[in-house]
Amino acid sequence: MSTATLHLPDAPATESIGARLASTLHPGMIVTLSGELGTGKTTLVRGALRAFGWQGRVKSPTYTLVEHYPFSSLYFYHFDFYRFADPSEWETAGLADAFRKDSVCLVEWPERVGSRLPVPDLALELSYAADGGRDLVLRARTDDGEQCLTAIVEGARGA
Ligand SMILES: Nc1ncnc2c1ncn2[C@@H]1O[C@H](COP(=O)(O)OP(=O)(O)OP(=O)(O)O)[C@@H](O)[C@H]1O
Ligand SMILES: [Mg+2]
Repeated sequence: MSTATLHLPDAPATESIGARLASTLHPGMIVTLSGELGTGKTTLVRGALRAFGWQGRVKSPTYTLVEHYPFSSLYFYHFDFYRFADPSEWETAGLADAFRKDSVCLVEWPERVGSRLPVPDLALELSYAADGGRDLVLRARTDDGEQCLTAIVEGARGA
């Protein structure tokens, strides 16, 4: 499976990768977003939501653990497990149930739920770059994820 790295000089670049990601996603897919606090995980998800046509606010689900966006083409779940503390929370409505064939799940702080999370198709990792921007590492974990990665990287390089 492939790995690729992209440099994102500013926040609009992060949103634009989110939009590209959105165009490659289909129901059933899981994408994880790792990286220190403030590296742009929610910004990338916002870019994806805007591309799906969401015009409202994109709330960070830090306290609610999950935000749900019912698009006509698919169910979109945005998780943030930063504050996940109690494994029993996983059984709470909306968590395990969200990982279905007809939903797309984008997951911030996947490390906090460990092996409860199904294997993601694509694992994204953001980090601070020396120029004030961010670096993004993309790792494909499934064939679907591999196709996404190829499309995102080709798009970002202007191919
Ligand atoms: N490529 C980039 N270059 C510079 N700043 C960026 C870039 N991408 C996002 N940012 C900025 O980083 C800040 C934090 O972004 P964001 O809230 O998306 O991070 P996060 O990883 O979701 O944080 P948390 O771990 O707290 O959920 C925002 O001000 C955002 O505009
Ligand atoms: Mg966030």
